Amino acid sequence: MNWKGRDVISIRDFSKSDIEFVLKVAERLEEELKEKGPLEYARGKILATLFFEPSTRTRLSFESAMHRLGGSVIGFSSASSTSVKKGESLADTIKTVEQYSDVIIIRHPMEGAARLAAEVAEIPVINAGDGSNQHPTQTLLDLYTIKHAFGRIDGLTIGLLGDLKYGRTVHSLAEALAFYDVELYLISPELLRMPRHIIEELREKITIHETTDLEGTIPKLDVLYVTRIQRERFPDEEEYLRVKGSYQVNLEVLKNAKESLRIMHPLPRVDEIHPEVDRTEHALYFRQVFSGVPVRMALLGLTLGVL
Ligand code: CP
Repeated sequence: MNWKGRDVISIRDFSKSDIEFVLKVAERLEEELKEKGPLEYARGKILATLFFEPSTRTRLSFESAMHRLGGSVIGFSSASSTSVKKGESLADTIKTVEQYSDVIIIRHPMEGAARLAAEVAEIPVINAGDGSNQHPTQTLLDLYTIKHAFGRIDGLTIGLLGDLKYGRTVHSLAEALAFYDVELYLISPELLRMPRHIIEELREKITIHETTDLEGTIPKLDVLYVTRIQRERFPDEEEYLRVKGSYQVNLEVLKNAKESLRIMHPLPRVDEIHPEVDRTEHALYFRQVFSGVPVRMALLGLTLGVL
């Protein structure tokens, strides 16, 4: 597979061997960083980060990744200070930014925005989240985190909890997990079930169970992947109020969990994991945050063709 110039838009564009390759490169870079400190692979290259929606982890970990590869970063964290405010189209913004950079990271509230950007740009475009659709780089770091914690993905029983309707991280992750020999529990309020088209695809490949019962499911799980209810994506505030606070993972809920259960969350969290869980061995979500740097270094280095 030639990675140079490749766009990263949807996890559906990847094969299992593509995914495994990125994880291997990330592992090598993590080791290399530990041994040598900051690297020089992307010296002279420029990353443009275009964030039309708020972000802490994705933007900063991409920036950190580019700095650790020896490259530079330009960009914006809100469209409000750009010429989008004057009515500039996304296509014109992309055609402009590619004159200044070698790779573009884009987060946008509109589903399909990253694909559109990739069609317009000559340089690689990486999707940092498009509406409720996909967040493929989060999925790669999630898989990397699971592999680091368990040494494998095959054979695990994994629960996805919370907003499975609007949460883009769980859409990408469920599709990627279908490449592996896993059993999947989809735990959500009725209103926030995983979209039917994803369920149908998953059923052809792996065993899945849909349930609203968190406490009854927890004892079966090796990994519990918790998500925030995506308030900003609800068309109707009334609908949000009906599901708000549906689940909270706390010490009481965890009393029947396996000792080896690991809890993940793409973050930010609101109230779906109580901070008392942070000091337990179950909490994997800050290691998960760390994984963003080596995985995004791998993606930047590969798409730039410098690794
Ligand atoms: N996980 C994630 O996408 O976090 P941010 O919204 O802070 O980037």
